[in-house]
Amino acid sequence: MQVRLAYAGPTGMTVSWNTFSQLSNPSVKYGREPSSLDQTASSDISITYPTSLTWNNHVKLQGLVADTVYWYQPQPCNLSSPVYSFKTSRSSGDSTPYSVAIAADLGLMGSDGLTTHVGDDAANPLGPNDLNTIQSLMLNNGTYDFLAHVGDIAYADYWLKEEIQGFLPNTTIADGAKVYEKLLNEFYDQMTSISASVPYMVAPGNHEANCDNGGTTDTAHNISYDVSICMPGQTNFTGYINHFRMPSSESQGTGNFWYSFDNGMVHYVVFDTETDIGDGRTAPDEPGGAEQEDAGPFGKMMNSQLQWMERDLKEVDRSKTPWVVALGHRPFYGSAANDSSDLCNDCRLSIEPLFIKYGVDIVYSGHVHNIERLNPLANMIPDPAGLNNPSAPWYLRNGAAGHYDGLDPLVLPLVNYSNYANDMEYSWTRLTFHNCTHVTNEFVASKDGSVLDKATLFKNRACGAQVVVRNQGETQCYIE
Ligand SMILES: [Fe+2]
Repeated sequence: MQVRLAYAGPTGMTVSWNTFSQLSNPSVKYGREPSSLDQTASSDISITYPTSLTWNNHVKLQGLVADTVYWYQPQPCNLSSPVYSFKTSRSSGDSTPYSVAIAADLGLMGSDGLTTHVGDDAANPLGPNDLNTIQSLMLNNGTYDFLAHVGDIAYADYWLKEEIQGFLPNTTIADGAKVYEKLLNEFYDQMTSISASVPYMVAPGNHEANCDNGGTTDTAHNISYDVSICMPGQTNFTGYINHFRMPSSESQGTGNFWYSFDNGMVHYVVFDTETDIGDGRTAPDEPGGAEQEDAGPFGKMMNSQLQWMERDLKEVDRSKTPWVVALGHRPFYGSAANDSSDLCNDCRLSIEPLFIKYGVDIVYSGHVHNIERLNPLANMIPDPAGLNNPSAPWYLRNGAAGHYDGLDPLVLPLVNYSNYANDMEYSWTRLTFHNCTHVTNEFVASKDGSVLDKATLFKNRACGAQVVVRNQGETQCYIE
């Protein structure tokens, strides 16, 4: 169950799945035809943690051919076990157009999550005939190379809030761990129809940190719960660490927290806005950790993530991957409350200089549960070029994938560099790379697949050109 894929370099794919018991030798049979799974890869990684109800199995398939379909089946299997397929990454430098799907703040759907009912004081329940975001992504499976989930995965840490509000039956705090794990398992099972056939690349969000939803209050009984209620195994991103295997070893990153990979003409940088912000900041804005996450750091040194990011961005071969896309959970900018819970000013202060210095093209975030497309920005100043060959990164936020608590109302007035915003529709993002100069962002309405907003970024560069990086603050220069 919970079958999921992750790129493992240009010729590798990690297959992960869960079982109710430990496997001594997790194995995957695979091949180029569904009827001929003539190769086997194995590992010794079958792991769990104290409160988990399952074991996480991870096997890396290596030596694959780029941009090629393979069929596979986790072992052991029986006659009813499905044979899945995936397509490997495009080679770095392959300039064939393609799309990716991006979602953030995507939680459990259905009777234990988002339905036609939302939490108390929340807005935007699903309409009776609306597709939810997981259903919409399923329907569009095959039209995107991979799905990036930019933090806040499952919302299992809503278990107590859902019980307090009478949405789930009450249990004890001691038994709450089982409810948390049940919600996690349900979500990952719902995602399998997507994650078993396209790589599911994840970034950490605040709801992966621990079991208490950043602090949960029962106002009727005047009780506040904090991270101290979380059992061992439900703190410090433990489930997230166990469940996924992102390509950090291939990119000298750290676990599932920061890593990079190429696909075709794009270099993707996934970063951590929850811990390891650097320069003395271990987590956004609060000395004790963001919203009392009490998590991390995961780097060996205070600035490990920043030092890694600088090395990674410096080494990008822009003649092969002219596009650089960064994905991190908390937004730096936007029409939202300008405090630690919405915009991550510490993230911006630490990380934005690198994005400017190395000419990152696009920065994606979620966390705030609505949609917004901004003008490209640097140091809080809108780039006057707009989308017509800006030198500043383009900031896009789509935290509207949906979960039990619906959507967040936009903070008005919108910032003056906001070019599109929507707080009424559940949505995911389709990003299409046409060539080395044009990329189109579409916010897709989950309910019916309609495009809510479409905008194309143009970069004036010759394909195959090198980017010259000057000192920070100077204009990026592209040699044609
Ligand atoms: Fe978040």
